[in-house]
Amino acid sequence: MRLPLTSGVLVWLVTGYDEARQVLADSRFSSNLTTPGTALPKPGERTVAEELQDRQPGTFLEYDPPDHTRLRGMVAGEFTAGAMHRLRPRIEAIVEECLDATEEAGSPVDLVETFALPMPSKVICEMLGVPYDDDFDFAGHTVVMTDLMARPEDTLAARDAMRGYMRGIVQDRRKNPTDDVLGRLIRNYGNDVTDEELVGIGNLLLIAGHETTAMMLGLGTLALLQHPEQLAMVRDDPSAVPSAVEELLRYASIANHGAIRTATEDVVIGGRLIQEGDAVAVSIPVVNRDPDRFDDPYRFDITRDPKAGQLAFGYGIHRCIAAPMARMEMQIAYPALLRRFPALCLATPIDRIPVRTSNATHGLHALPVAW
Ligand code: HEM
Repeated sequence: MRLPLTSGVLVWLVTGYDEARQVLADSRFSSNLTTPGTALPKPGERTVAEELQDRQPGTFLEYDPPDHTRLRGMVAGEFTAGAMHRLRPRIEAIVEECLDATEEAGSPVDLVETFALPMPSKVICEMLGVPYDDDFDFAGHTVVMTDLMARPEDTLAARDAMRGYMRGIVQDRRKNPTDDVLGRLIRNYGNDVTDEELVGIGNLLLIAGHETTAMMLGLGTLALLQHPEQLAMVRDDPSAVPSAVEELLRYASIANHGAIRTATEDVVIGGRLIQEGDAVAVSIPVVNRDPDRFDDPYRFDITRDPKAGQLAFGYGIHRCIAAPMARMEMQIAYPALLRRFPALCLATPIDRIPVRTSNATHGLHALPVAW
């Protein structure tokens, strides 16, 4: 089926699990959306829209091999099992710190503000070597950048603010390579990585590193509060936590804009001819509810066998590089939250919870809770 994006451009919508994997594993589909013929400008606003299409060097999410391979390879070592093992105590400490702040703020509180957003933000800032406590509102700019209904001028201003901020940090790290991701990139690759590529890598990790896990923590907590028996399992039974996190990832499928690709030649998918230049959107929320893959897919069930392989992190060469880290953050955060506040409950009727409706990442603006 072909549908218009907010930009007006028609995309093929991929809704089947098997077809999703075919598209995401097929090198004839490009992640470079600036390919001629596939531009996604908003009608009537070509100048700003065109400028918005400028790819920032280093943003490897939007690159194909060989550039993608080179750039992703530079940071892949930061997300290995060994790196996660070393990171774990810091994540545990940051989770406790944010829970302390939540408790101090007192019941009722907005859990997004005190816990879901600051926790992953502090983790990714520390990892990258970006100050968390300065005045720069990277989370606010990210909300604008990922809002598909934002005015293009606002998106551009937010994007440029992010780039300018990261440029300052990169220039500083060049002079003084500290022991963090940006510092290590400079030490390991020297002039083989340009400052602009470092800006792209830094912002990709900063943006993807905080808002995704933050939205998962808000939506996931809400799902658990709606299913008290499953909540109790996550709180009391450590062995239930890994599969619970897989089910929360499947159920929330926060990358609701999907993975978008452009066909670089004619390809047949699911019996349909996708022509060269056509855009394709793999709808992750729909694919994760494919009844041929997931039994009773609309049921929330943390005992579901994770072997069905939810696709919340994507698939193929662009599969989320930080999936092990995001999993670890959630596996630590949910039980810690539920143990700290055993009487956690919603502080507002469910239909009053402000849900994000126009962001590329699904989530909650706020989650008022009490205990
Ligand atoms: C629950 C949290 C997360 C979810 C659901 C998620 C989801 C995704 C998805 C669906 C993709 C693939 C997009 C595509 O194929 O076009 C992706 C890629 C990516 N994610 Fe995540 N992500 C999460 C957390 C994170 C975190 C914490 C970071 C950074 C620390 C991160 C960094 C990235 C990067 C750099 C890519 C690009 C990979 C590539 O192009 O090779 N993500 N993520």
